[in-house]
Amino acid sequence: MSADMSAPNDLESNWLPFTPNRQFKREPRLISRAKGAYYYKPDGTEVLDATAGLWCCNVGHCRDEVVQAIQQQAGELDFAPTFQFGHPKAFELASRIASLAPGDLDHVLFCNSGSEAADTALKIALAFHRVNGEASRTRLIGRERGYHGVNFGGTSVGGMVGNRKWYGNLLGGVDHLSHTYNRAEQAFAKGQPEWGAHLGDELQRLVDLHDASTIAAVIVEPMAGSTGVLPPPVGYLQRLRELCTKHGILLIFDEVITGFGRLGYATAAERFGVTPDIITFAKGITSGTVPMGGAIVRKHIYEAFQSGPDHVIDLFHGYTYSGHPLAAAAGLATLDLYRKDNLFVRAQALEPIFADAIMSLKGHKLIADIRTIGLAGAVDLVPIDGLPGKRGFETMRHAFHDENMMVRVSGDCIAFSPPLIVEKTQIEEIFHRFRKVLDRVA
Ligand SMILES: Cc1ncc(COP(=O)(O)O)c(C=O)c1O
Repeated sequence: MSADMSAPNDLESNWLPFTPNRQFKREPRLISRAKGAYYYKPDGTEVLDATAGLWCCNVGHCRDEVVQAIQQQAGELDFAPTFQFGHPKAFELASRIASLAPGDLDHVLFCNSGSEAADTALKIALAFHRVNGEASRTRLIGRERGYHGVNFGGTSVGGMVGNRKWYGNLLGGVDHLSHTYNRAEQAFAKGQPEWGAHLGDELQRLVDLHDASTIAAVIVEPMAGSTGVLPPPVGYLQRLRELCTKHGILLIFDEVITGFGRLGYATAAERFGVTPDIITFAKGITSGTVPMGGAIVRKHIYEAFQSGPDHVIDLFHGYTYSGHPLAAAAGLATLDLYRKDNLFVRAQALEPIFADAIMSLKGHKLIADIRTIGLAGAVDLVPIDGLPGKRGFETMRHAFHDENMMVRVSGDCIAFSPPLIVEKTQIEEIFHRFRKVLDRVA
């Protein structure tokens, strides 16, 4: 137990997720306050947030408008049952989200996280084919290096071995496309790599193997985030779209990271000019302030469920906290800020500055590759022989303790995704500090 009362007095009871707990409790990385582009340690030290928290705090931390909206909502309506009842702000938010979504994606089912959003989308896809008289379409296709959260559906279609191997057989009837990263062909590419569209044709191979009549959906992140910012090769998503349309397979874009401005647009679908059948979102919808996620579906998907008797539930799925009043209020205030501050366009304008800044690390002896698109970027570090992940972990540690900067580590890859309010000087500062960290861990 720490004698320092500015820190929580029992670090032991909290089993931190995706964290080496023993190490953390020996040398905690504690955050107790946030404002704008900064976090603050319990002793008041300012920490530059180079990750928008965990890819979520896009409008900057503790924005007054969002704080007030949440406070006011808490005093007005704490909770309304979500099954068979509703409250106005959830409807308003769904309409606002639908208006930001591409094509005829115009119905939103709310949940509370990206993981729930992925499982919600997969379940809707299965149920959709069943109500359409195609109940044989049960197979789900994900992609290597994909991350769709940690629930059983998302873990099953996900493609990160460390997240999968512990949990038995996961869902049956799942297959995976190859990931799209190839260092020999793509190293140090800014934006979408030219090489790799042909990997979309693997979907045809899986159709030939399993038959289209058995396949319900393909789920991909339009830009893989958690495995190190892998922008889609030029033409790749278009290829997936064509094949899904041809074979009656639903295409799901997991936009939990890419949604709400990370790539300079409301959705990656808009940026890449490819309209999926379902989009999942979370994180940026409330800028991380209150947990919320959801699935946006095309009109005909929603309509397919509307043919039963009037009193019978149309979709047997949902959460107690779907569209929770505090989350809905936070979401509305966050969307207002995206508009008021023109944050999506701001991210577009900052993209080349960010890209040049991260690419300036090229040539450092610890840098094996750099990828960047929108206000997201990642560097692959040269690993320490025989100790995979150690270089990445030490880099994250030193960034926090010595350079007062938060970066995101995934193995030996470090990702950057600052809040969309980040200033040019702060972007320069991020990579200035990061270079110092690299020199330290080299
Ligand atoms: C693409 C994607 N999907 C799903 C998730 C899971 O979100 P959550 O942690 O809110 O369950 C994440 C989280 O990083 C993500 O990046």
